[in-house]
Amino acid sequence: MSVKEQFDALRIEDLAARTGFKWSRYTANGSGVLPAWVADMDFPVAEPIQRVVRSLVERSDLGYCEPPEIGDLPEIFGRRMEEQLGWTVEPERIRFLVNALQGLDLAVLLGAGKGEGVVIQTPIYPPFLEAVSGTGRRLVESPLRRGPQSGSGHARFEMDLDQLRATIDRDTRLFMLCNPHNPSGRSWTRSELEAVAELAIEHDLIVLADEIHNELVFPGHEHTVFETLGPEVRERTITITSATKSFNLAGLELALLVFGSEKLRRRFDELPHFVLAHPGILGVEAARAAWSHGGPWLDETVAYLDGNRAFLTDFLDRRLPGIVHGPQEATYLYWLDCRGLDLPMAASRFFLKRAKVALNDGAEFGPPDSPLGFERCTRLNFATSRAILEEIVERMAAAVENA
Ligand SMILES: Cc1ncc(COP(=O)(O)O)c(C=O)c1O
Repeated sequence: MSVKEQFDALRIEDLAARTGFKWSRYTANGSGVLPAWVADMDFPVAEPIQRVVRSLVERSDLGYCEPPEIGDLPEIFGRRMEEQLGWTVEPERIRFLVNALQGLDLAVLLGAGKGEGVVIQTPIYPPFLEAVSGTGRRLVESPLRRGPQSGSGHARFEMDLDQLRATIDRDTRLFMLCNPHNPSGRSWTRSELEAVAELAIEHDLIVLADEIHNELVFPGHEHTVFETLGPEVRERTITITSATKSFNLAGLELALLVFGSEKLRRRFDELPHFVLAHPGILGVEAARAAWSHGGPWLDETVAYLDGNRAFLTDFLDRRLPGIVHGPQEATYLYWLDCRGLDLPMAASRFFLKRAKVALNDGAEFGPPDSPLGFERCTRLNFATSRAILEEIVERMAAAVENA
């Protein structure tokens, strides 16, 4: 079966039997809920990854492994990034971690002191906010805003540079950049990133660039690696990425940091060894297989997702015109601004109760008590078969029509 045929053949009863919490949280006792929330894809993983994991398990080859820096994983990662993104990553600049969340916390701890400011562009993937509040740093919020409508009738999210300039103060130390941006679906353009770089240089900020979705960019858009904007930019940047989003391996944990300067890397290396924690053998070998042999699978997966995104955009325009959305340039996470629908409760609660569709709660994408009304927005994960996606949005449309 081709990759597309495998994806088309997904069956709800098989997915509902999975133990991962995307499905298990909402499908207990035959609830009939369709989950479209956390960022796991429903798709089977690439054959080379299945093969290596199966082989490790069959041979009980599940013991301690060398830290991934010691083998050829840094070179393999570097080769993939050079080929796909034109990004040169020297192996000595890489440090591996168990997951990207650990990287977010560590970068905030290293990049800003207690009480110092950290810039975050909201709505944002919630752990960014938790990394700031959990480490006692100060949130410097910069809400994204809708730009002018494009030819497609959709207005993309844009950075508010004037607000950013006015908000960054002398005690601001760190800029947490998410590119591609979760949940807006933006793939920031080079000129937008240059504006961030200019601000970072002017205010002497460290930039934490979370580029975990860097290979999930749709045709017509191009991922620009932030640190490649120039030497002055690179030396103040820590990049976080992994194979887990592109290749759907969140349970086989491995992530990495790329340090733009030796100074930043040294600060990191001074942390106690076991705070850093190494990924296990399954994560290491799965990432090796993904970056070495997963390319053809990923090309087909992005093409499939691109079809889903086109379907979704068209469906929402026709059947749920009250929802503001898109254009989706990257990632399979789609922000739905339902403020115009006047729903009787928070958007995610409404769709769970009335449509049996589990989405992410928009409120979590901003700070508590935000006046921006994110609770009336929600995030939909469209990385599932077209048939299941159709069922999800049909249910949502029916719920709104009957509200
Ligand atoms: C922007 C972003 N960063 C980090 C993560 C988490 O990655 P990990 O599973 O490696 O912790 C996600 C997961 O969805 C994400 O969207």
